[in-house]
Amino acid sequence: MREQAREQQFSLVWKRDLNDVFADVAPYYDRANYVASLGMWNRFLNSFMSVIELHPGQRVLDVCAGTNAIGIALLKREPTLEVHAMDRSAAMQDVGQQRAKARGLRIRSVIGDVHELPFPDNHFDVVTIQYASRHLRIKRVSEEVLRVLKPGGSFYHGDMLRPGNPVVEKLYYAYLRFCLAMTGFLFRSSPAALNCKKYFIDALQMFYSVEELSDMLREVGYRDVTAKTVFAGMIGFHRAIKP
Ligand SMILES: C[S@@+](CC[C@H](N)C(=O)[O-])C[C@H]1O[C@@H](n2cnc3c(N)ncnc32)[C@H](O)[C@@H]1O
Repeated sequence: MREQAREQQFSLVWKRDLNDVFADVAPYYDRANYVASLGMWNRFLNSFMSVIELHPGQRVLDVCAGTNAIGIALLKREPTLEVHAMDRSAAMQDVGQQRAKARGLRIRSVIGDVHELPFPDNHFDVVTIQYASRHLRIKRVSEEVLRVLKPGGSFYHGDMLRPGNPVVEKLYYAYLRFCLAMTGFLFRSSPAALNCKKYFIDALQMFYSVEELSDMLREVGYRDVTAKTVFAGMIGFHRAIKP
C-alpha cells in the first residue's frame, strides 16, 4: 500500500523533475550536506560504514551513488574491492568520478535508472544505497538488488527515515524546511531545486519507519534483516542478506 501511495503521489516528480534538481545540485551537493548537517555529514557516513562488513577482493555495487561518497569510503577501507557505481545523474557521477580520481581510486560508473540494474543475476557480494530510497520505488529496487546479489550477499541501506515519535517527527521536518531554505539561498539553487523543497519533506513524510522498512525487505525475500538507528530514529541503517 505504501509503495502504491508513494508512486501515485510522486511519480511525476521522480520522472520529470529530479534529474534537473541533481544536475543543479551536483557541484555543491557535498558542501550543502556538510552545512545542512551542521558539520556532521562525515559522522553519519562513518556510522553507516561501521555496519558494513567487507572482505578483500569483493565486488560491490553502490546504487544511486551520487558523488561517490560510499564508493570512496569503501575503497579507502578495503582497496582490493571492485567497486561499481550507478546513478541516473551524469552530473552527480561526473563530480563523483573527479572525487575518486583525485584520491587515486577506481570506481566503475554506469549511468542509468536503478529500477533496472544492467547486471547479471548473482553478481555482487555487497550492494549499498544511501540517501536515495525516498526518490525510488524502493520495493522494486530492493527486488532488483536481491537478483544481482550472490546468495549470502548483503544489501546495506542507509537513509533518513520517518521517526516513530510524533514530536521528533515535527521538529525534524521543521529543521529540514529551514535547511532547504538556507542551502537554497547560500548555494543559489536553481528554480528546479527550489520548486522541489516541498517534495523533499512530503517524500520523507510518506516514507517508511525503521520497522516498516525491515518488514518490506523481509517481504521481498531477504533474511536476517537487522537495523540500527541514530538521532532518535531520524537516520536508519539496515542490513539484509540474500538467502
Ligand atoms: C541524495 S542523492 C544521494 C547520493 C549518494 N548516495 C550519497 O549518499 O551522497 C540521491 C541520488 O539518487 C539518484 N537517483 C534518483 N533517482 C534515481 C533513479 N531512478 N535511478 C538512478 N539514480 C537515481 C540521484 O541522481 C542522486 O544522485
